[in-house]
Amino acid sequence: MTLEAIRYRSGSLQILNQLLLPHETVFDEIRSVRDGYEAIKSMKVRGAPAIAIVGCLSLAVELRGGAGADDLVSFIRESLCHLTSARPTAVNMGRAARELMEFTENESMEKNTEQLRDSVIGWIEEMLERDVNDNKKIGNYGAQHILSGVPRDSVTILTHCNTGSLATAGYGTALGESEWCGRCTRWAHTRPSLRGSPPPSSQTAWQPVVVGADRVVANGDTANKVGTYQLAIAAKHHGVPFYVAAPSTSCDLSLESGRDIVIEERPAVELTSINGVPVAAPGIDVWNPAFDVTPHQLITGGIITELGVFLPSELQAALTGRLTAL
Ligand code: MRU
Repeated sequence: MTLEAIRYRSGSLQILNQLLLPHETVFDEIRSVRDGYEAIKSMKVRGAPAIAIVGCLSLAVELRGGAGADDLVSFIRESLCHLTSARPTAVNMGRAARELMEFTENESMEKNTEQLRDSVIGWIEEMLERDVNDNKKIGNYGAQHILSGVPRDSVTILTHCNTGSLATAGYGTALGESEWCGRCTRWAHTRPSLRGSPPPSSQTAWQPVVVGADRVVANGDTANKVGTYQLAIAAKHHGVPFYVAAPSTSCDLSLESGRDIVIEERPAVELTSINGVPVAAPGIDVWNPAFDVTPHQLITGGIITELGVFLPSELQAALTGRLTAL
């Protein structure tokens, strides 16, 4: 059974507060865009697809409560702008904002306020369904690719960071491959904020590495949780295929290379203390980038999307015309 970290029923949204894991399992009520922004910014909700879904659902909840009655289109525009500003590296929220705004503007030409409200909420609710379906397709395509010619029970997947049901509405991106591959050993390595499970001590070998992505740009360079790049170098050195698994909503063809990606820098306190207890020398300098960029040359296995598996050099052609321009 998939963990339901995002609980949505029309007019009500709850998210699993990831800041309290693994000690407590608490679902926080999200009643407004303000709550949604705060949950994203503070990392109660994490992972590129989940950020976009929770951001948009927070808007749906507030709209259901009657917000924006004076000027619905402006309320939606300002809300989406605010939500997009919460975290800069993952492209999914920005992409959803752009698509939803375009939809809103078109619909507003022929609908009254109440009708427009309903269609915008409907559009947002479909996002949830799309994400669950995309997860399945990513898992399916990835598993077919990874398992071709390899006995199923010999496959071990190494992943990095949060790529399961905490980061999406379904069972995840890279962890989805594990679901589809069946009897795989999974090793979820996490940093910088203490998530997931420790590596099994006997882990000595693996085929392939599969990671998620916060943004994949036109040449295939990929931003993902800091530490991904060094894993990609190690994989290359040892001849281990390295895959990125991400929905096309994480792809951004408007940027040519990874050099153009804005990398979020997180507060020092995330590294200098744990649950409020200092663990570093007072006053120490800290640089805390949340992500790094893996150059496309190191993505030797391919990029697994809901549309198929592509080499970095094929990505742009494969997605052109299928993604809205950013
Ligand atoms: O900074 P976070 O915790 O929001 O990190 C995002 C992630 O979980 C990812 O980097 C992930 O690997 C890609 S999104 C499935």
